[in-house]
Amino acid sequence: MKKAIIIYESVYGNTRKIAEAICKGINEVEGAECLIRKTGEIHTDDLCDYDAIILGCPNHNQEPALNLVKFIDRASIVHLKGKFGAAFDTYTGGNKDVAVTKLEARIHEKLPGIELIGSLSSKVTGRKGPLAGDEESKALDFGVKFARKLLE
Ligand SMILES: Cc1cc2nc3c(=O)[nH]c(=O)nc-3n(C[C@H](O)[C@H](O)[C@H](O)COP(=O)(O)O)c2cc1C
Repeated sequence: MKKAIIIYESVYGNTRKIAEAICKGINEVEGAECLIRKTGEIHTDDLCDYDAIILGCPNHNQEPALNLVKFIDRASIVHLKGKFGAAFDTYTGGNKDVAVTKLEARIHEKLPGIELIGSLSSKVTGRKGPLAGDEESKALDFGVKFARKLLE
């Protein structure tokens, strides 16, 4: 069984919904299982227990949300070589991919043991949401595809 964990940050709950949809998608694939934790709900040492680590947060002023950045920085002392991973963000305006691109760069720099095999950027219709159109179903599909890659 391949084990994945999603660590997320969320102020208004939209990024949490995306995390839940990705998790559901992963859990739909036989041979993979996933759970979700908010940044404050897990110790960085516990990351060792997982084959895959997925990190996601809202775009805040064209940067990944600070609590997730701080979590990544704290995790930099943990041995994570050979893990797979993915990054995702949520955004409102024309800032698609901006936070997730910076998040990926931060993961490369601080957690070089993680090989990133996916990224997702999901639109919310206003600062507090709700999520646009079919973003949750796209996230579920992303989870399914991620799990399949993990099992290759
Ligand atoms: C302080 C703050 C700054 C934000 N800055 C941006 C921004 O620069 N670009 C953007 O597209 N969205 C921006 N947003 C909108 C957030 O991305 C949006 O609130 C978030 O995706 C909602 O996710 P959540 O419900 O998980 O908190 C900002 C939101 C907040 C609260």
